[in-house]
Amino acid sequence: MLERLLLPENHAISILIKDHDRVKDVFDRFEKSESGPEKQRIIKEALSELKIHAVIEEEIFYPAVRKYVEKDLMNEADEEHHVARVLIAELDQDGPSNDHREAKFTVLAESVRHHIKEEEGEMLPKAKNAKVDFEALGREMLARKKELKTRGVPPDAEHAMIAAVHGKDDTPAVAARRTRATQSSPKDSDKVRSVRKPTQGRRTIKSGRASKPKRSAA
Ligand SMILES: [Fe+2]
Repeated sequence: MLERLLLPENHAISILIKDHDRVKDVFDRFEKSESGPEKQRIIKEALSELKIHAVIEEEIFYPAVRKYVEKDLMNEADEEHHVARVLIAELDQDGPSNDHREAKFTVLAESVRHHIKEEEGEMLPKAKNAKVDFEALGREMLARKKELKTRGVPPDAEHAMIAAVHGKDDTPAVAARRTRATQSSPKDSDKVRSVRKPTQGRRTIKSGRASKPKRSAA
């Protein structure tokens, strides 16, 4: 998007594009780093950037330009934010010991890269022509960012949702095996099935109901 170079520094769109560049840089560093503490540190940095960026878009930028951009584009952006927030909530909740953590972050990065491409390729060029004081909007966004960095980001529905189901369905494969166990015939239900959870030890399911998970030796 060549126009980015022609916009004033405090133009709302310049601020968003700078955020996008910074986030993409963090994703690149994640891919080039070794698994372990370095990747974990980068995940933490990315989550913080993404949460603040999402809030300024959702609270300030999207409402200001929504009526000037096609409804479908704005709705798609809303849904992409929702999906990203679900993954962010899971990453916030699961610690570094979760063996899906790096894979989950990779999926988040792919999803956000796609979202950025659509915003910069479709939404922002249309929003740029809106009858909006983009420099005033930019100042409002910068002030809100400062506030979020100091006071933290507000809680969201996706964090509440993930907190409510946490530990029940760690992966689709575990959830599918649990469903199959609960739907098995009465004869089969007498059999004891074993299900391995990624972050816990082996646990047993009898008559379709899970026993308490055993603590792992670690
Ligand atoms: Fe966005």
